[in-house]
Amino acid sequence: MINSDNVLKFPPGFLWGTATAPTQVEGHIENEWTSFVAQDGNNCKIACDNYHRYPEDIDWMSRLGTNAYRFGIEWSRLQSAPFAPLNQNELARYVDLLDRLRAAGITPMAVLHHFSNPPWINAAGGWTNPATIPAFVDYVRKLVAAIKDRVYLWNTFNEPDTYACVAYLLGGFPPQQRWKLGQFRRVIDHMARAHAQASRVIRREGHAGRKPEVGIAKNWTFFHAYKRFSPWDRATAFGCHYTFNKFVLDAFLGGWRRRASTYIGLNYYGRVRFHHFRAMIPASGTPVKDIKDVGFVCDDMVERYPEGLGKILGYLRRKFRLPIYITEHGAASDDEPFRELDLQQNLQALHRSMSEGTDVRGFFYWSLMDNFEWQFGYTKKFGLLAVDFQDPKLPRSLKPLAGVYSQICRDNSIRVSP
Ligand code: FCB
Repeated sequence: MINSDNVLKFPPGFLWGTATAPTQVEGHIENEWTSFVAQDGNNCKIACDNYHRYPEDIDWMSRLGTNAYRFGIEWSRLQSAPFAPLNQNELARYVDLLDRLRAAGITPMAVLHHFSNPPWINAAGGWTNPATIPAFVDYVRKLVAAIKDRVYLWNTFNEPDTYACVAYLLGGFPPQQRWKLGQFRRVIDHMARAHAQASRVIRREGHAGRKPEVGIAKNWTFFHAYKRFSPWDRATAFGCHYTFNKFVLDAFLGGWRRRASTYIGLNYYGRVRFHHFRAMIPASGTPVKDIKDVGFVCDDMVERYPEGLGKILGYLRRKFRLPIYITEHGAASDDEPFRELDLQQNLQALHRSMSEGTDVRGFFYWSLMDNFEWQFGYTKKFGLLAVDFQDPKLPRSLKPLAGVYSQICRDNSIRVSP
């Protein structure tokens, strides 16, 4: 990491990627989101039609100059019943996607669970049911056997924290339950057990040339009090931190469970401050203007807190001593200069932490393209590529931030102003 003339270099071989999730981009999916109507009145039935357009989307990745892609493999496409053989047509499509990535020199990171389950898993209670664990491990075993020579970076669960919290405490994701704390804990516990078992399978049976790496993606959000001395603000912030961060991290990585991961995936967006029980972020319904009026910097989702990235990276380094990938970071806004500043600030924080010794191996921008943002539908624009959802052909086009990110990927460095 030699730095000169205000250029901050990243180590050779650093992965610069983009990230997506099947439900958000593929379309033509049969899972619990198929019939879900988002707040903007839309659904994910077509989404970005990446199911058909993945060759074109890989061309876009090449144009961006990225060398990695974090994408999901949709369980509901591959198995129609517990312990069933994998659907060979759907498998062939994912294999073709992987072959095209390889031809383009793009390293895949495969996500095995990203907020969605096959209908037959949901019908049996989803992850509240312990029977989901062996069903998932069976799926993983078959998938690993089929694609191990094409994938070495495995991401078992994307944000189990967000999934369990929004589905069982906040009612935003299917099955839209509220304040079911017992269910929340059960889901986390079952997913953590499934992660440990799936990880064993991947490491024992997934070795094909290159040693497999496996981890989860933990969303880390800072929860702070709006008024430092308000007991209500502090209690709410502490409760959220405890449930969302500490409990989940302990379940997946505490004690012996640390050995179930060879790396930590970190999804980092920023911070939430609480005024009494109210989360002062646009994602919880507080208007962006109100938040800006009190002096907070936020995108269309949460408060920006780039200095937090260094803090959490330092904490994870000291506590777990595992390599880290930034499996997601991004900002939703129509304001491209704002998004550029956010990216710069977060990459500077990342670089600083790496200079202090944190072993970070890659960074994946969320997201390759504008897509179906769960309960919010198509209103949150995270993409490097814009997608025109009014046009049935769903044309993609580069946004200004794509040019900025592309330069960073090609240079393997960022420029900072003197
Ligand atoms: C993360 C999710 C991802 C997307 C981004 C904005 O929490 O993993 O699917 O929704 O936030």
